[in-house]
Amino acid sequence: MIICPATLADLTRLVALENAVFAGDRISRRQFRYLLTKGQALVVKAVAHDPADGGALAGCLVLLFRQNSGRARIYSLAVAPWARRRGLARRLLAYAEEKSRRRGQKGMTLEVREDNAAALALYEAMGYTLIGRRENYYEDGAAAARLGKALAETERKFPTMAKNIDKPCPARAKR
Ligand SMILES: CC(C)(COP(=O)(O)OP(=O)(O)OC[C@H]1O[C@@H](n2cnc3c(N)ncnc32)[C@H](O)[C@@H]1OP(=O)(O)O)[C@@H](O)C(=O)NCCC(=O)NCCS
Repeated sequence: MIICPATLADLTRLVALENAVFAGDRISRRQFRYLLTKGQALVVKAVAHDPADGGALAGCLVLLFRQNSGRARIYSLAVAPWARRRGLARRLLAYAEEKSRRRGQKGMTLEVREDNAAALALYEAMGYTLIGRRENYYEDGAAAARLGKALAETERKFPTMAKNIDKPCPARAKR
């Protein structure tokens, strides 16, 4: 499996993966185009290099950087059903963390559905801890757990108070 930045040439495949993996709160084609071109974002892809798989898109991670924040945000992580439980999400996360470190980011944050046991197990295994909660965060009203991980030795422990919670990304914020 090859892990590298996605480009506009991946747009259609990224949208197809998003639609295959998520039932709601999907990133639209327009949003992907923005993230790939204008956003303060890095879209990372995992592509099967086995020609037998036709170079299929196996996974994708969207990372957001905000000015003056110091913490990168994992906005989306998706692994195709056929590629799961082979350590791909771990690799995508490790890649995103390394890219963030190189950009001088001191920590990572993300939101995940509280009922998403697989993702919670993954993030816990990767060293993420609970730093907050957001009620009614998803389209269907489900709550999100907010997780964080320090990247730098100097990063202070993440506070667990709600005041640490910043604004949701416009792309998935409620209207
Ligand atoms: C969650 C998801 C990204 C995991 O991808 P993956 O490539 O299968 O994960 P990995 O193989 O790297 O698994 C790493 C660890 O995560 C945990 N994990 C992953 N899938 C799990 C599952 N279905 N049940 C329990 N634990 C799971 C395990 O601890 C696993 O380590 P192990 O295989 O040694 O036990 C994938 O299932 C997915 O895309 N789900 C739908 C979209 C989603 O929920 N995205 C996250 C939104 S924040």
